[in-house]
Amino acid sequence: MPSTNAAMVTQKTRRILVTSALPYANGPLHLGHLLEQVQTDIWVRFQKSRGHDCVYVCADDAHGTAIMLTAEKLGISAQEQIDRIKQDHEKDSAGFLIGFDNFHTTHSDETRYWSETIYARLKANGHIAEREITQAFDPEKNLFLADRFIKGSCPRCKTPDQYGDNCEACGATYSPTELIDPVSALSGAKPIEKASTHFFFKLPEFEGLLRQWLDSGSLQSQVANKLREWLDGGLQEWDISRDAPYFGFEIPGEPGKFFYVWLDAPIGYIGSFQNYCDRTGHPFDDYWQPGHDTELYHFIGKDIVNFHGLFWPAMLDSAGLRTPSGIFVHGFLTVNGTKMSKSRGTFINAATYLEHLDAEYLRYYFAAKLNASVDDIDLNLEDFTQRVNSDVVGKVVNIASRCAGFLRKGFDNTLAAECAEPELVQAFLDAGEGIAALYDSREFNKAIRDIIALADRANQYIDEKKPWVLAKEAGREQEVHAACSVGINLFRILMTYLKPVLPAMAEKSEAFLQCSLDWHALNGPLLAHSIAPFKPLLTRVDSDKVAAMLEASKASAVDGAGAAATTTQAPPGNNDTNAADGAAQHSDRTITFEDFAKVDLRVACIVAADHVEGADKLLQLTLSLGDDQPTRQVFAGIKAAYDPDELVGRYTVMVANLAPRKMRFGISQGMVLAAGPGGEDIYLLQPDSGAQPGMQVK
Ligand code: MSP
Ligand code: ZN
Repeated sequence: MPSTNAAMVTQKTRRILVTSALPYANGPLHLGHLLEQVQTDIWVRFQKSRGHDCVYVCADDAHGTAIMLTAEKLGISAQEQIDRIKQDHEKDSAGFLIGFDNFHTTHSDETRYWSETIYARLKANGHIAEREITQAFDPEKNLFLADRFIKGSCPRCKTPDQYGDNCEACGATYSPTELIDPVSALSGAKPIEKASTHFFFKLPEFEGLLRQWLDSGSLQSQVANKLREWLDGGLQEWDISRDAPYFGFEIPGEPGKFFYVWLDAPIGYIGSFQNYCDRTGHPFDDYWQPGHDTELYHFIGKDIVNFHGLFWPAMLDSAGLRTPSGIFVHGFLTVNGTKMSKSRGTFINAATYLEHLDAEYLRYYFAAKLNASVDDIDLNLEDFTQRVNSDVVGKVVNIASRCAGFLRKGFDNTLAAECAEPELVQAFLDAGEGIAALYDSREFNKAIRDIIALADRANQYIDEKKPWVLAKEAGREQEVHAACSVGINLFRILMTYLKPVLPAMAEKSEAFLQCSLDWHALNGPLLAHSIAPFKPLLTRVDSDKVAAMLEASKASAVDGAGAAATTTQAPPGNNDTNAADGAAQHSDRTITFEDFAKVDLRVACIVAADHVEGADKLLQLTLSLGDDQPTRQVFAGIKAAYDPDELVGRYTVMVANLAPRKMRFGISQGMVLAAGPGGEDIYLLQPDSGAQPGMQVK
């Protein structure tokens, strides 16, 4: 039999370094992040299965104002915040079978070293400018304010409560100085204008280099065209410094000035790879010094192309380092046709998905939809259920499960010594090069289409042979053996092609087939080969579990968990991006300071607590806000957690200006504050000693 892998044998081993964008250490991973990691991981696993030397590194993007503010809000140090999140991120990625060779953090010695080194080179080359600029400043928080941290009324339609760069009501775009009555979204203070010195990367000096780079074929044409538009509009110098307080790396020799998070973020790719090389002895310089035959690819989302397509190659060039071989940009994930939404439950965190569903379902579905374009990808949950069940369970697994029983019953789990259908098996092997080319060019949806077409052929073959009929007829055992052995061999080839997408199912198949499924080692059929008893490889998607996942996502959105997926795209070098660390974290539930200031929170003393006739959950509390105030009746759902007697005399916190609400058992004049999911698991808030009834809580 001619070997289909003759080409492979002579093919040179490629040496490839691959990255996914570094997720912000500011919130949990959601399915949008996973779209990117799964896309990258499939590509990397594919390259490895073809025998190439491919290394996949990533890291958390740990710097910036947003992370600093989150840590402050949680009352922990920034270091603690990024450590916690890194653990969560690594766990979630592992849950989705993402095979990083290294996962690091940008807040590392390696990234600091390379940030300082690259900056020193840019400076030595005269590519750094220094000048004073004036920006909005929060005099209470002592912070310069990014546009999205300033709110006010829209200058055009006068809608209150709009962010500093655009109006959600009328769509106007403007600068924060045009807002009517601007306030800091952080403190409510009126921003003042303040000057300070900033450092700039002289991007316009790289126009020639960038035009060449855009013409080099390293980018998808859609992306190159978009970037050319920016170039045509004129490049501006890029502000790469931020003033203290800032969580990041201080610029050497410039006390109180820090590298902007987007300067050191892509350098984090180098830092993570350096960390990997130090650990494994991989040759670092071969990948970052120019002139080696190594390849470098960045997988990213469409919102961050300016950083990777313009700033990054210019910085690398000035620093005397190699530029990427390619930037692979994907579109955004939508769920059921729209942007992920917390209220609809379609803002799905990676961890929430994994609590309900198997990672490989989603890996398969993403593969079946991903291609090399920048178009958005929709996760339609009905289509997802149907597609996975019909393709993977109904077609691929089915081949093995249909054949395995006969081989066990009649043939001691041993395949036939001769191949009954050499041409069919060869056709499956021959399809491999085409499928490989589709994987390599990131046309995963077409690769899957071809693989499933082969699965259809395999099932058709079994349908024609009808081993279940033959098995009942005397003297036809050999035909049963032949057909089922062919079926198992076809299954083996298909699972080899699917292994980059379904690594866990492939591992189970390897145990079943008693052979490893390496694409580069794939040759003729297995003959007279023993296999193990068949065990289920993947169960069907249960639509009840999909529904439960959506419910859980809704619930976690109400708890306030999860980070907003919105990242706005700003033109390169535009100073409006000054403090736009890209990690906008305002959820749908954000309220303004004014909203918050309307809530009158008071310390209250529980002077009486009573059961309510006929109510399972409620206690009736009588609350005092001071002797000179009338008492209030409040119904609180804390019956399962508290005995009324133990509450009398206790202090708690209440919302004192809530409009009275008519409830089934009477009128409730306010609310008490308690924490927890409810039922027995609810905890009334209590002020420290010293607080007196009636005191305002602020
Ligand atoms: N920290 C920066 C990247 C620095 S790379 C040197 C960042 N972080 S992020 O957490 O906001 O996004 C990480 C990656 O996930 C980006 O490539 C981004 O495009 C991608 N996605 C975030 N939300 C997404 C979807 N809803 N859909 C698909 N990808 C999305 O940007
Ligand atoms: Zn407006």
